[in-house]
Amino acid sequence: MTPDPDTAEVRPAATGFGPDSVSVPPPGDPATFPALQAEIRELAREHDAVILAHSYERPEIQDLTDHVGDSLSLSRLAASAPQSTIVFCGVSFMAETAKILSPRKRVLLPDIAAGCSLADSITVEQLRSWKAEHRGAVVVSYVNTTAAVKAESDYCCTSSNARAVIDAIPADRAILFLPDMFLGLWLQRVTGRKLTIWLGECHVHAGIRPSDVEQWHRELPGAELLIHPECGCTSQVIEAVGDDAHILSTEGMVTYAQQSKADAFLIATETGILHRLEEKAPGKRFVPVNREAVCQYMKLTTLEKVRDSLRDGIYEIDVPTHTADRARIALERMIAIG
Ligand code: 13P
Ligand code: SF4
Repeated sequence: MTPDPDTAEVRPAATGFGPDSVSVPPPGDPATFPALQAEIRELAREHDAVILAHSYERPEIQDLTDHVGDSLSLSRLAASAPQSTIVFCGVSFMAETAKILSPRKRVLLPDIAAGCSLADSITVEQLRSWKAEHRGAVVVSYVNTTAAVKAESDYCCTSSNARAVIDAIPADRAILFLPDMFLGLWLQRVTGRKLTIWLGECHVHAGIRPSDVEQWHRELPGAELLIHPECGCTSQVIEAVGDDAHILSTEGMVTYAQQSKADAFLIATETGILHRLEEKAPGKRFVPVNREAVCQYMKLTTLEKVRDSLRDGIYEIDVPTHTADRARIALERMIAIG
């Protein structure tokens, strides 16, 4: 089935906990940040902990650590970090991934409510019935999935290596791709493979529409367009502007902006990335095409919660051994590719 994003009936969140049900703390007082950051770094030393942060986290959380990145680089860091504790400033599927890759380490998630609407768009039961309808197909799951869904998958991928993962699968094998339909449609386009795609979406990226990009493209015609493949606008923007659009993971955007000769960029992803872009490519201009593109789950993590997490050992993430052992196979293939 090839979904048409305009008419597709997107699967509702499987858990029933939508992003509106989380209560995002207000911005903290910047005057308190240096002392809290120093306290957290000291606690991290005492507890032999490494702090990992996704680039959608609040700026003060990104500034806390040198280990800021996208899902793939953070998974690799989690697997190789020598420390015995990992504090994951991100969302629950990322902390679960870290635990699966490093089962002997203690993995802490500072706010247990930090979920992901995309991961919620498919349950393991739904995946089992989908597989039963497509026996023999290779299952490729985006890393934004629960551990149980990963355990039912052949490969995982992230936005930075999804294309390489699809290319690594023999051409005669049918592929089920889940759960993001916009990423799936883009992969069909760039790999030339026919994929059977689950109709899931991330509420933040699905909300970035072609009109957001078109409006800014008119206003800043010289700016380069950097688009995350989860965006609802991806296919139509490529149709409209062709090679002017660069479809990239969050870390891919940072690397691209650093190397490009352009000095202005339109950014189509969650707005937390702006802090990292401005830090890593100083002097360049970054304009979000939609300022409302904010992931409530990522913004749940505050410095106070990271401090409490390290001090009190909360919330420790565990994945049942049987699930973790099966999910690790798909994740290790992801880590090895691209
Ligand atoms: P990246 O892998 O590009 O960091 O994306 C993760 C994510 O959650 C995007 O919404
Ligand atoms: Fe999930 Fe979307 Fe938030 Fe990424 S931005 S963590 S896909 S809800």
